[in-house]
Amino acid sequence: MTIRYLTGITTTGTPHLGNYVGALRPAVAASRRDGTENFYFLADYHALIKCDDPARMQRSTLEIAACWLAIGLDPEQVFFYRQSDIPEIPELTWLLTCVTGKGLLNRAHAYKAQVDKNTAAAVDPDSDVTAGLFMYPVLMAADILMFKAHRIPVGRDQVQHIEMARDMAQSFNHLYGEHLVLPEAEVDESVAMLPGLDGRKMSKSYDNVIALFGPREQVRKQIFSIVTDSKAPGEPKETEGSALFQIYQAFASADETEALRKAYAAGIAWSDAKELLFARIDREIAPMREKYDHLVAHPHELERILLRGAEKARARATPLMAELRHAVGLRNLGDQGPGKKQKAAKSAALPTFKQYREADGKFYFKLVDAQGKLLLQSGGFDSPRDAGQAVARLKADPAALKLDGGLQAADGVHLSQIIAALQDLTGPEN
Ligand code: TRP
Repeated sequence: MTIRYLTGITTTGTPHLGNYVGALRPAVAASRRDGTENFYFLADYHALIKCDDPARMQRSTLEIAACWLAIGLDPEQVFFYRQSDIPEIPELTWLLTCVTGKGLLNRAHAYKAQVDKNTAAAVDPDSDVTAGLFMYPVLMAADILMFKAHRIPVGRDQVQHIEMARDMAQSFNHLYGEHLVLPEAEVDESVAMLPGLDGRKMSKSYDNVIALFGPREQVRKQIFSIVTDSKAPGEPKETEGSALFQIYQAFASADETEALRKAYAAGIAWSDAKELLFARIDREIAPMREKYDHLVAHPHELERILLRGAEKARARATPLMAELRHAVGLRNLGDQGPGKKQKAAKSAALPTFKQYREADGKFYFKLVDAQGKLLLQSGGFDSPRDAGQAVARLKADPAALKLDGGLQAADGVHLSQIIAALQDLTGPEN
């Protein structure tokens, strides 16, 4: 089964090293894995929630797009697009809005944080809260569900949003049938958090970042402003809790990290350690910076790439949206699709699995079609649980079905017929 990964970056501000280490770099590495499809997009509708400066919106979208390509994302190999080029996303947002409890959104961190802040300041709880901020998780769910993404690599702070997307998909499927895939958050603990200049998580909101593609001199200056303790040259230094060390580790090989650990113990001067860090980062970033500068200077090239990406993404979004519109009843009036009754009749006409025990004490299952004709016969399992798991695997990935001693097609039945029956059973292309 192809696993679909999806990652969005809100287009506010300029990417910093924390974004690079925590999200961009692992995402590009992942895009090269076999058996995966990868979706990377610029979340500019999300940016509108926070940013009402049109020039900054445009500039930031340009910089972030350039950034992805500069660090090695291959737009031919992945789906690389701008959220606002996919009109199906706001459309899906509305369908999801209508199956989402307001109470669920009341619990979203970003909204709650603002309400808590207002409460503490004794002002109206909804002061400075736009409906956009409140709806943020629904838009994000639409981003994800639109492309049937399975895994969403995110930082800890976003896990709640992925769970909300799951909830929304579940509500939708419950009401309208199995159309949406339930996504899962994937938090890579080893890269989730790069410390910033002051040792707290590197983040725009703490103003403690190191620029990713800033001018070299700026990057150097930022690195030299990393907070350290006051130990003098020659005094042994702690690697534990050292932001400088942690940032170095995010770029260095195991050997290089070990060498710096020894240098700490031997009392390396902070200024020398900072010089080492700067050189190590620059070694990785300098070649990318050239490409970045080129793209930022040639925005038409970027625009072309993004529009092509949108076309590719919409080839997925448009058919799914049509399916969903039909599912909820936004239909051509001339087209009398199956009503509730006929739908029930259709599900009664599905193939079924039957599990049973034979005289040999073993547990078996078989798949029969709607007319009761045998399609597939299993061998014996030691426990009903094993048999059940084998059934679940077939349902999860019909296309992976292989016939062997343990699974045999009935006489005159083709593998492709069995796969088609399994797919009928598990609903539209899950
Ligand atoms: N909200 C995410 C962030 O601020 C960005 C984002 C928008 C996103 N839509 C998404 C991330 C969908 C993953 C999947 O980081």
